[in-house]
Amino acid sequence: MRVNLREFEALAREQVPPMAWAYYAGGANDEVSLRDADRAWERFRLRPRVLVDVSAVDTRTTVLGTPLAVPVLTAPCALNQLAHPDGERAVARAAAAAGVIQVLSTASSVGLEEVAAEVAAPRWFQLYCYRDRAITTDLVHRAEAAGYGAICLTVDLPVLGRREREVRVSFSAPAGITMRNLERYASDVMTAQAGASALAHYVANQWDASLTWDVVPWLRSITRLPVVLKGILTREDAALAVEHGAQAVIVSTHGGRQLDRVVASADALAEVVAAVDGRADVLVDGGIRRGTDVLVALALGARAVLIGRPYLWGLAVDGEAGVAQVLQLLRDEVALAMALSGRTTVAAIDRGVLAP
Ligand code: GLV
Repeated sequence: MRVNLREFEALAREQVPPMAWAYYAGGANDEVSLRDADRAWERFRLRPRVLVDVSAVDTRTTVLGTPLAVPVLTAPCALNQLAHPDGERAVARAAAAAGVIQVLSTASSVGLEEVAAEVAAPRWFQLYCYRDRAITTDLVHRAEAAGYGAICLTVDLPVLGRREREVRVSFSAPAGITMRNLERYASDVMTAQAGASALAHYVANQWDASLTWDVVPWLRSITRLPVVLKGILTREDAALAVEHGAQAVIVSTHGGRQLDRVVASADALAEVVAAVDGRADVLVDGGIRRGTDVLVALALGARAVLIGRPYLWGLAVDGEAGVAQVLQLLRDEVALAMALSGRTTVAAIDRGVLAP
């Protein structure tokens, strides 16, 4: 029996080949940020209000105007088939059933059109900007044509962080698992590198390390979809994001996989919320494992959170049913945290929930 998200981790590890596990579990360098992510949420203490009628608790909200049953999205993680043959299809079905938005990775192992055809539901497309802008433009137009509701540009990965677990196993995707979205441009294959991560090699060759803020208006000029910037951690960049037309930002450390020792998302969130000042939606990911983490995030001003590794664990353990269970456990914990803090609606989760 699995009674919380963390309990899926050890079970998932038994299901996933060591190379895939090294990829999913690893963080950059000493993994300080990886460890810090959960702990940063745990440091917050709560101020519950009592004698509030909590016989009905409503976890619904909206992000960029799209309804969510609970303030949770599934984060873009590459190659979900490393966890389970159904990969992103299973995540699509579980997310749709749970009323949460799936953010599909550019590096998904099921094509974006196939994922969209799996089940009708709101979803976003995460974008890596290829050196070949024609590929990038085509990806955006394909996502738009397939009904994706936002383009989520990852801005914290100009080059790949050094994940030593990936290096140690010479990470590359096993036969049959590729970046399907890139197939038609013949950019779908990572070539194995002895003593190095094939992904780092792929990224260095294919993704554009020279991006600057100009990419945001450029992206806006090629799509009518809202642009979300993922990987904002400072007030300076939050202000620039809004000035350049981002409609949402995601406070993120990229799962502790990019710059090690970076400030934890939980600690960066308040500063980003203040700088954005209501001009865009602020979301957050990194180390969300409990309903109380979600409560803290919302109290700090996030509209919603994203979970990454926990849904991959669920996927590895039990395919679609595993992802569904992870989302259900988190939903129930959010509702419980709201009830026990005396907040019956998401709008009622204010700064007063947090101890100074
Ligand atoms: C890709 O986004 C990764 O973090 O491996």
